[in-house]
Amino acid sequence: MDKKLIVVAGAAGKLGRLVTAELLRHPRVHVRLLVRDPSKPDVATLASDRAELVAFDAAAATAQARAEVVRGAFAVISTLQGGPDVIVDAQLALLRAAKAAGARRFIPSDYSYNLFTLPEGVNLNTDWRRTLAMQAQPETTATFQTVHVMQGIFTDAYVLGFLGVLDAAQGIVRYWGDGSTPIDWTTWEDTARYIAAAAVDEGTLPERLFVSGERASILTFAQTWERVHGRTVTLDRRGSLEDLVAETKRQLAEQPQNMYAWLPLMYARGIFGGEALLGESHNAHFPSIRPESIAQAMARGAA
Ligand SMILES: NC(=O)c1ccc[n+]([C@@H]2O[C@H](COP(=O)([O-])OP(=O)(O)OC[C@H]3O[C@@H](n4cnc5c(N)ncnc54)[C@H](OP(=O)(O)O)[C@@H]3O)[C@@H](O)[C@H]2O)c1
Repeated sequence: MDKKLIVVAGAAGKLGRLVTAELLRHPRVHVRLLVRDPSKPDVATLASDRAELVAFDAAAATAQARAEVVRGAFAVISTLQGGPDVIVDAQLALLRAAKAAGARRFIPSDYSYNLFTLPEGVNLNTDWRRTLAMQAQPETTATFQTVHVMQGIFTDAYVLGFLGVLDAAQGIVRYWGDGSTPIDWTTWEDTARYIAAAAVDEGTLPERLFVSGERASILTFAQTWERVHGRTVTLDRRGSLEDLVAETKRQLAEQPQNMYAWLPLMYARGIFGGEALLGESHNAHFPSIRPESIAQAMARGAA
């Protein structure tokens, strides 16, 4: 049986580890894990007979180093996190190296709501990913493609806590707008399954790959949380969408260096504004993946 080499950049991160584990469920797959420090104890253990660890700083790498790390790859996945130097410049350079090496596809570190329908300027992180997508587009050929995996928001207490949406300890759900806007929800684990399945796919995939667990408003999420956990939720409506925009501007002006003051608000605008809903689902392309509903994810403690 032929080996299939998948390169994962950002493999030591949270999503990178989950994607790596999913890739290794495919028997033919070998992985090359690009990490900044392979000697870290919790990183060194990622190496195995099918997993090669390679030291690689995506932002500082030379063209030669990039060419070496993608050599022989069937696909290159990025789960990198960072600013525009990483998300736009380093990913584009890695994508071009992957193409030059004859890889079938590059999967950039998107994993978000629909980054193509959210207006420019709403969320900086989304803007960088859209910039990368636009710069990547001319690289597409009959044999090389960029696949943007989009799955909505992670059904996860930590992520929802960062966004200020869920305080699981206190049983508080916070939202902006009227609470009825649909939102796409997917777990970390299911997202990793779809990324791995997309990476190894032999066919041509949609450039914008929409996969998800469930679509539900924040008020439905709160009702589900009450039912699954048997606890009462306190609903905290923070204001209208206009209030959210004004609050984001205020925080940006007052604390430009403190991204924790305004980045969660930018994401909130993307989530509660309703513009960034996923397009028609491609779940059916991967019938072996049965993504968890919000209730199933909650029942096993994810949120
Ligand atoms: N939709 C959602 O709800 C949601 C929620 C969370 C995350 N995400 C997305 O999922 C993706 C992965 O996020 P994550 O939480 O898994 O991130 P993470 O745990 O912070 O991992 C990111 C990895 O990138 C690596 N990295 C950063 N800069 C690098 C560089 N210059 N060279 C090489 N490696 C570098 C880091 O390396 P070190 O280990 O050396 O630091 C880290 O391992 C991101 O695109 C993020 O936006 C989506």
